[in-house]
Amino acid sequence: MAIERTLSIIKPDAVAKNVIGQIYSRFEGAGLKIIASKQKQLSRAEAEAFYAVHKARPFFNDLVNFMISGPVQIQVLEGEGAILKNRDLMGATDPKKAEKGTIRADFADSIDANAVHGSDAPETAAVEVAFFFSGLEINAR
Ligand code: PPS
Repeated sequence: MAIERTLSIIKPDAVAKNVIGQIYSRFEGAGLKIIASKQKQLSRAEAEAFYAVHKARPFFNDLVNFMISGPVQIQVLEGEGAILKNRDLMGATDPKKAEKGTIRADFADSIDANAVHGSDAPETAAVEVAFFFSGLEINAR
């Protein structure tokens, strides 16, 4: 399987719960390397731009308001099949439907506050990584 990069965000609910380290352990335990990382308070304009693809969805404003409710931890993960591997670690969007042992089942409270974001395909991963990180900020190894 090819080595991929994917964009991961630990959302404000999980940052507030102080579980960044526990979530990082899951990435590392699955063989994913954290090759870039930053903590950031998103502005409304940044959150709206990042989620522009969902602009027409009924939950768009709730999603943006939630994502700017506190700092987020943003990272680039690298490894074999990183995009799907990260989505598997995350679990279903709605934590009530997420499989036991996934990040959302263990750390998320609701579909609005669901702990993590992960890119869903190679094309979106490339766009999302470039949204938050310049080439100079990514530690190729
Ligand atoms: S996905 O991951 O794109 O397939 O999931 P999707 O169901 O299309 O949801 C897209 C993002 O919107 C978030 N979401 C919501 N936020 C607030 N309220 C409600 N009801 C809601 N439903 C979905 C969901 O967590 C996805 O965010 P990200 O950050 O991409 O995981």
